[in-house]
Amino acid sequence: MAGGKGSRLYPLTQSVSKHLLPIYDKPMVYYPLSVLMLAGIRDILVITTPEHQKDYQQLLGNGEQWGVQFNYLAQSQPRGIADAFILGRDFIEQDSICLILGDNLFWGQGFSEQLERAVQRIKTQGGANLFACKVNNPHHFGVVEFNSNQQAIHLVEKPQQPRSDFAITGLYFYDQQAVKWAQSIRTSARGEKEITALNQYYLQAQTLHVEKLGRGFAWMDMGTPESLFEASQFVESIQGRRGYKIACLEEVAWTKGWIDKSQLQTHLARYPNPRDQEYLKALL
Ligand code: DAU
Repeated sequence: MAGGKGSRLYPLTQSVSKHLLPIYDKPMVYYPLSVLMLAGIRDILVITTPEHQKDYQQLLGNGEQWGVQFNYLAQSQPRGIADAFILGRDFIEQDSICLILGDNLFWGQGFSEQLERAVQRIKTQGGANLFACKVNNPHHFGVVEFNSNQQAIHLVEKPQQPRSDFAITGLYFYDQQAVKWAQSIRTSARGEKEITALNQYYLQAQTLHVEKLGRGFAWMDMGTPESLFEASQFVESIQGRRGYKIACLEEVAWTKGWIDKSQLQTHLARYPNPRDQEYLKALL
């Protein structure tokens, strides 16, 4: 989901889509795309505003260069995150679904396995699989409360008095029912079809699974000037100190076996920086 107005980032977003802004050395949208790819998802619908759709097409193309397939749809108005399932129903058909917000960054050990488990859970058991992360400012997010058995028992969007410190992150795995339920969500006071309302359907149906992301995990929502800056610093620091790249789509595609040697070499030749070239050469 890469639409919306990006109003919290004005004037940065006056002429550029938020999800194309740089997070250190790559566009923001690379970070959520890498998560989808790590989850093994190759059939991807990119939802943008009508005016920015061509920018995404220019950046991402049809996805062949990373062994995936991109489809594009425009959302004429920011009608809410759950609108993705109304807009995208022909794309989804009878499949299970993963939705990721274009401004979310995830990084942590064991995440690929966690993603694969979520995909398997939805395929075999259905329901919804969400991820929660402890934050200092829960009132800015969807908030989940757990009981003593670590089961989610309450969900609310941006509460004034949060009942826990656990925010629901912008990564959602759903079975087919999401498409049906999204149609019956009523527009909220702020004029949106809230994703939390969809999650509440799953909670009521007792098919909601919320997994906590642990202490060693980094999750960021890059929607404000502060968080944009912090995310860039984070990526620079991990990549510089540890020598791992975050959201290197060529690396993910290569590791998954979705691109061949000559495709990786083509990517390599496009990077102007010798350090990036060395990184991709090391993979080869
Ligand atoms: O980041 C996690 C949070 O994301 C969750 O905890 C909240 O439950 C969820 O509502 C959402 O809250 P935000 O206030 O951060 O949502 P925001 O309006 O910023 O939209 C998130 C992304 O989705 C943003 O990158 C733009 C895109 N978007 C949003 C809307 C409302 C669209 O593409 N279309 C839309 O209609």
